[in-house]
Amino acid sequence: MSDSNSFDVIVIGSGPGGYVCAIRAAQLGMRVACVERRETLGGTCLNIGCIPSKALLQSSENFEELGHKFADMGIVVEGVRLDLARMHARKGEVVAANVKGVEFLFRKNKVTWLKGHGRITAPGKVEVAGTTYDAKNIVIATGSDSIPLRGVEVDEKQVVTSTGALELEKVPEHLVVIGGGVIGLELGSVWKRLGAKVTVVEFLDRILPGMDAEVAKTFERVLTKQGFAFKLGHKVTGATKAADGVTLTVEPAKGGDAFEVKADAVLVAIGRRPYTEGLGLPEIGVALTEKGQVVTDDHWATNVPGIYAIGDCIKGQMLAHKAEDEGVALAERLAGQAGHVNYGVIPGVVYTWPEVATVGETEEELKARGVAYKTGKFPFTANGRARAMGDTDGFVKMLSDKETDRLLGCHIVGPDAGTLIAEVAVAMEFGASAEDVARTCHAHPTLNEAVKEAALATDGRALHV
Ligand code: FAD
Ligand code: NAI
Repeated sequence: MSDSNSFDVIVIGSGPGGYVCAIRAAQLGMRVACVERRETLGGTCLNIGCIPSKALLQSSENFEELGHKFADMGIVVEGVRLDLARMHARKGEVVAANVKGVEFLFRKNKVTWLKGHGRITAPGKVEVAGTTYDAKNIVIATGSDSIPLRGVEVDEKQVVTSTGALELEKVPEHLVVIGGGVIGLELGSVWKRLGAKVTVVEFLDRILPGMDAEVAKTFERVLTKQGFAFKLGHKVTGATKAADGVTLTVEPAKGGDAFEVKADAVLVAIGRRPYTEGLGLPEIGVALTEKGQVVTDDHWATNVPGIYAIGDCIKGQMLAHKAEDEGVALAERLAGQAGHVNYGVIPGVVYTWPEVATVGETEEELKARGVAYKTGKFPFTANGRARAMGDTDGFVKMLSDKETDRLLGCHIVGPDAGTLIAEVAVAMEFGASAEDVARTCHAHPTLNEAVKEAALATDGRALHV
């Protein structure tokens, strides 16, 4: 075996988990290779996930604002029209800049990209494109894939997953979204803003399961005001395709009469599942859960010595920054350091407008754990900057321990919520109390003042309501 085929770490998968793990391991002096079979680096996130979806969300938001909000501010814009081909081309440029950025970072850090499908043939051995490489440590970072829905066959043209929904060649007259989760609401927003009628069919009687119920309810109201139609407590049980559209069979989740809905396009967004196909895991005895997640201990080690796993293919939230933090912490552990991820402080953001952002526990989770807590709420209608922006929908909800005042969670629906939540994440990481946030001087007029006021409100001391 030549030296060039032998590495300290081989990472399989170059998504945010894998590429960040590879870079950090290289920074720490290890000889690192990363296997990726896609034409470009960056995984789901950079190629068909976070980045292209945010490019379209930004473009469609600008289009919507120009058509509707500007007139309210006294700016008359005439002749606004959509150039969807250019919008898609720009999205491609944004993706290209990002994926090339990762390639540059690999060169800079001397990470070798092994192009092709990676398969673990034995502990310490990874086969890529007919060559077997040696690795002291193997990191599985192969990500996730959309969950299919029985009876609704995806063709990525009429019936699409998120991947096809990022590429629709024309704005559908009626888009039916199956699943009222993050993907459904983000990509539903894109096409709604560009002119589609959007109906969301959600199995549960609420959207965004797992997020704070009050935030989700308010968000549903705001989206309904924007024109979204929701069929909560319903499921799609079949789809018939024709040249002029798709006819869906919809049934109440708890039983009742089925009815039909016609759509020009259907987005199936009912969740994602770990992807580990063709890796050779059963053959070498790496344990998987019933859901197909790679089983890992607290330090990302699988049951087979020298094989680790991070990101969407293991337990926990399927988020790019969670995968990244695991990648960094694991690389540090492999270098003998004490890498650590605080799973209690992982923010989650829905990049619609308004945005939804969350960190820490929800009220429902605190109640279920029997924790005594205080709530402080502050509406954006009472925030000067939000008024000036014309974005007053939503509120900040702060939760702190009743006894100690330590911050337990924060849930926001409102303008730029995804940026606002970072302040609370930092505070929680430092073990801050609501009082600490309330006593921190916040610039005026900023949206962040709503966070401060919510912190004051946990003690009944909000100043502007
Ligand atoms: P992935 O990014 O899935 O990367 C895995 C890589 O491994 C892939 O490139 C795949 O080709 C490669 N691979 C798999 N098997 C092999 C093999 N055997 N050999 C070689 N290569 C292999 N998260 C956020 O935090 N914020 C967002 O805004 C956000 N938006 C999203 C929007 C959409 C539409 C989608 C679908 C997801 C979004 N996510 C978002 C989730 C985010 O993309 C994932 O959490 C993240 O990509 C997981 O990173 P990962 O490294 O675990 O895996
Ligand atoms: P999700 O888990 O967020 O939502 C799926 C929704 O579909 C749930 O509300 C569920 O109740 C519903 N559902 C399930 N089966 C159904 C059925 N048969 N009929 C109707 N509804 C049904 O999953 P989603 O939206 O597919 O996203 C997958 C993952 O991608 C998320 O878990 C998230 O972590 C990640 N993601 C993150 C983003 C972000 O951070 N902004 C953006 C997009 C994706």
